[in-house]
Amino acid sequence: MKHSFISILTILCCLFLGFSCSSENSATQSPAPKADLPIPHLEKRGNVTQLIVKGEPYLALSGELHNSSSSSTEYMKGIWPKLKSIGLNTVLAVISWEQVEPVEGTFDFSTVDDLIRDAKANDMKVVMLWFGSWKNGITSYVPKWVQTDTKRFPLIQTKDGKNLNILSTLGAESAKADAKAYGAVMKHIREIDDDQTIIMIQVENEVGMHGYTRDYRPEAVAAFEADVPAELMQYLVKNKANLLPELQAAWNAAGGKTSGNWETVFGKGDYTDELFMAWNYAKYLNTVAAAGKAEYPIPTFVNTWIVQPQDKHPGDYPSGGPQAQNHDIWRAGAPNIDILSPDIYLTDYPGILTMYSRNGNPVFVPESAAGTNGAANAVYTIGERGGIGYSPFGIESRGYVSSNTGIVTSADASNDIQPFTFTYLQLRSMASEILKHQANGTIHAAWLKGSSPEITESTFDMGKYRVKATLRGSRSGSAMGYALIMMDAEDQFTVMGRDVDVTFAPIDGSSIAGLAKVQEGDFVNNEWVAERWLNGDEIQLRYDLLKALEEGQSGQGLRFSAGNNKLQRVWLFNY
Ligand code: DGJ
Repeated sequence: MKHSFISILTILCCLFLGFSCSSENSATQSPAPKADLPIPHLEKRGNVTQLIVKGEPYLALSGELHNSSSSSTEYMKGIWPKLKSIGLNTVLAVISWEQVEPVEGTFDFSTVDDLIRDAKANDMKVVMLWFGSWKNGITSYVPKWVQTDTKRFPLIQTKDGKNLNILSTLGAESAKADAKAYGAVMKHIREIDDDQTIIMIQVENEVGMHGYTRDYRPEAVAAFEADVPAELMQYLVKNKANLLPELQAAWNAAGGKTSGNWETVFGKGDYTDELFMAWNYAKYLNTVAAAGKAEYPIPTFVNTWIVQPQDKHPGDYPSGGPQAQNHDIWRAGAPNIDILSPDIYLTDYPGILTMYSRNGNPVFVPESAAGTNGAANAVYTIGERGGIGYSPFGIESRGYVSSNTGIVTSADASNDIQPFTFTYLQLRSMASEILKHQANGTIHAAWLKGSSPEITESTFDMGKYRVKATLRGSRSGSAMGYALIMMDAEDQFTVMGRDVDVTFAPIDGSSIAGLAKVQEGDFVNNEWVAERWLNGDEIQLRYDLLKALEEGQSGQGLRFSAGNNKLQRVWLFNY
């Protein structure tokens, strides 16, 4: 057992050695991007959309920093080693408008330069979060010259004409100014980021209006009472057959009209107010995103404050954000945004991903959990939903390796490896293997939970086999497990798991699938390295063979404990 985590530790040690040995590389002195490499972009491979970095598919095993961390290069010095110890290859970090353009027209890119330089020195990619006009719907990251000029940069108003500290989407000057600053940042990144350290951009943060369902400033009321813009109507007519059911239902219920004001086309009510806000947020963010794409067209996404169970009306959650029911409007209004992402703090993780992967929306989760839950979420996102990546929020204060130092110093410290870090390192060790299986459609993952929601079993048809993953700790409500199953060849599977049994049966039921050979092992730089041969107690799940036979089972299977496990590779035979 002493050696069982050696490969994972080897990866950790390499990460640390890599860190201490790498020289400071000033981003500001770097040449322009290498012309022979395509810039980071999204690409459809098989049924999934992958993120391509330096010409290769990339799996973003990420974490998002607390909001204020990346505002200070000095503060970040203490954070980088933690990020490495957690096992990330990507960090989500804020660049704010207030720091970039403190005086109108005068730009200070030092936070961008330092972030790129230090991330590169720490062998880490960056997803940049552009905190401009809105952060969690509120306007607090704009420069002072914007914040204090409410005439030029108008705020949302209540029904009785009071200002809320939220820029109105109808302020044309606001969109122009934000777009100018963001465009300048993207131009700067193109000029200095020769190693493609910045791989993707989040535009704003969890936008939408708090309080009311819609903006009541006079321009907003006039826009609401005017006809639905022709641009939106044309999009809806053209895409009618593929619209999501929420919008389809509202439009049909109001008579399916192709012109008229918002209430004429979509009916009177909260949802129409929300659609109106969604259109205006989408258009505004599209203006900002377009200015960036014109300079350096790397992938963009928006993140969503999703509807909480206690919410009754839009405005209880930010109204008009990219919530699932607004996706058609966002697609119509913001073609320069590539991904509509959910921030998932609710427990039904798979259910939320279902809502955010409709109509080919690529999957990237910028904010969610760490810990065992986070480990299961990451595996599921990548293995079952073809995800580009996963990212717990507030990563620098969560689940890193050793409770004392944050650094693994010897093999004996292996038991200190937190489930989340262990899982991330395992995923990293086989990232290119996973990406290949994603593109080939030969991968599945189970997300298993004892309760809220109770999902204790998942089955997948893979080649000629039906593969079943069963939560072992299903009697305990708090149990959380996962399985990542890759089909290497017709009769060969490699499986990663926690708190799960995995069994196999031919789909056609004509025979029983036996386990001819099982090995445990690791991937080291995407190469399988076998260790124990597993047999006997390690693979015998039951002895009631007659009953098992009736159920089409051999009684043997792969068993993964509730702790940190190596991978298992199985070769099947039929009898
Ligand atoms: C969601 C936001 O997007 C984050 O920036 C942060 O404020 C978290 N909520 C805090 O839980």
